[in-house]
Amino acid sequence: MEKMQNTICVFGLSYGDEGKGKITDYLAQKSDIVVRFNGGNNAGHTINADGIKYKFKLMPSGAVLEKEVIIANGVVIDPKVLLDEMETLKKLKKKIKLKISSTAHVIFPFHIKLDELEELKKGKYKAGTTKRGIGPTYSDKAARWGIRVFDLIHPEILKIKLNNLYSIKKDLIRVYEPDWDVDISQIYEDYVEYGKILKPHVIDTAFYLNKAIDSGKKVVFEAAQGNLLCIDHGFYPHGTSSNSNSLGISAGTGVPPKKIGKIIGIIKAYTSRVGEGKLTTELFDEIATQIREQGHEYGTVTGRPRRVGWIDLFNIKYGIMINGVDKIVITLLDALEGINPIKMCVGYTRNGKKLDSWPIHPEIIEECNPIYEEFEGWESRTPEEWARIASVGYEALPKTMKTYLDAIKEKLQTEIAIISIGPDRTDTIVLDPSIF
Ligand code: GDP
Ligand code: IMO
Ligand code: MG
Repeated sequence: MEKMQNTICVFGLSYGDEGKGKITDYLAQKSDIVVRFNGGNNAGHTINADGIKYKFKLMPSGAVLEKEVIIANGVVIDPKVLLDEMETLKKLKKKIKLKISSTAHVIFPFHIKLDELEELKKGKYKAGTTKRGIGPTYSDKAARWGIRVFDLIHPEILKIKLNNLYSIKKDLIRVYEPDWDVDISQIYEDYVEYGKILKPHVIDTAFYLNKAIDSGKKVVFEAAQGNLLCIDHGFYPHGTSSNSNSLGISAGTGVPPKKIGKIIGIIKAYTSRVGEGKLTTELFDEIATQIREQGHEYGTVTGRPRRVGWIDLFNIKYGIMINGVDKIVITLLDALEGINPIKMCVGYTRNGKKLDSWPIHPEIIEECNPIYEEFEGWESRTPEEWARIASVGYEALPKTMKTYLDAIKEKLQTEIAIISIGPDRTDTIVLDPSIF
């Protein structure tokens, strides 16, 4: 079977928030279907288009353009959050063409409670989670007592599974909080109601997607989080609980690897991270404040100020290898305006020795120092000026920015497909028009 050319994966090469929402929406213009395949409402994907700012936690970003959107089996779903997002879209008079996998797992209030409590016990190994119940829900999936969307739309099955799960979770939570309880019959009633509303959207999305791809439909796979938060290949335990990169697509959708076409990794012009864990290139001075303000680096889900640092090509290179990235997208270049010089991490040393590859384990990463190269920055501009530059194209970019981009391309040995110099859909420069 030939590699499919009508599918594309968009994922973040760093710690999340690289601009997946913006780029997915951009590519959705030329696509039929957009699919979320991992994570849950720990994600916050922003799209700025037609004067409106959309923030999605579960809804695939294709919803803005009224494309078909699929929440596949690899996602964990808090039904209340999804219904709220559907309501918001309805108020904006958007047509919702949503399909939900019957095998996706469901988040319950006790998962959220456990997420909070488990973090308290983890000490320096806590991830600083979004407290949305993501980890405990994936744990239940792996332990095989999780509750799936199929169960949600079958009240008689839900009743048995929920009561069973509640009895287990109650005992567990009471180890931490002896007086804890919830009204489980109320939760059951609420979830039966959610199930009733969502039922018309529930199908076997693996079957549907494979048929759609085989018939030539164009599909964007939109990852949540970022490669460095991946449960298997990222920072463990300071990451998330799913394969938050292109590796999650097949397991998270039922679409075989051979049908996955282009793999597009997004990087920011610098690095940001929310939550715990070492950020090797982290900045703490006034440059950090400047980048944070210029890039509006505050969490979409929790509102937490994001930690920021220089771009880290060493860990990005590792992600390019793991994911087989075809091309990269660089976002938030405008947010580095007025900063001079700009530093770029091109490798790590440990005990004075240069490392061959990103060292994976947080305990080792703690002992590493970044090797920097310096680049001349570019001047500040108004958003209107950036928008005008985007409308002209690559040649209008500041010369120093082009030098910075050339260095990234050369050091990563990977071509750049798209450049983003502002939050709006139109603040985008496509270098490879054949990208999708
Ligand atoms: P995601 O989780 O990867 O979808 O990213 P988020 O939406 O959480 O965070 C990215 C933020 O940067 C959002 O506020 C976007 O609107 C914004 N953004 C994306 N690309 C650009 C860009 O090129 N320039 C600027 N200034 N903002 C951008
Ligand atoms: P998007 O899709 C940035 C981080 C949390 C925490 C760790 C584990 O918007 O890029 P979790 O709640 O998943 O158990 O938290 O992962 N995290 C994210 N950071 N962007 C995200 O999503 C994230 N989703 C989770 O801050 O450190
Ligand atoms: Mg985000």
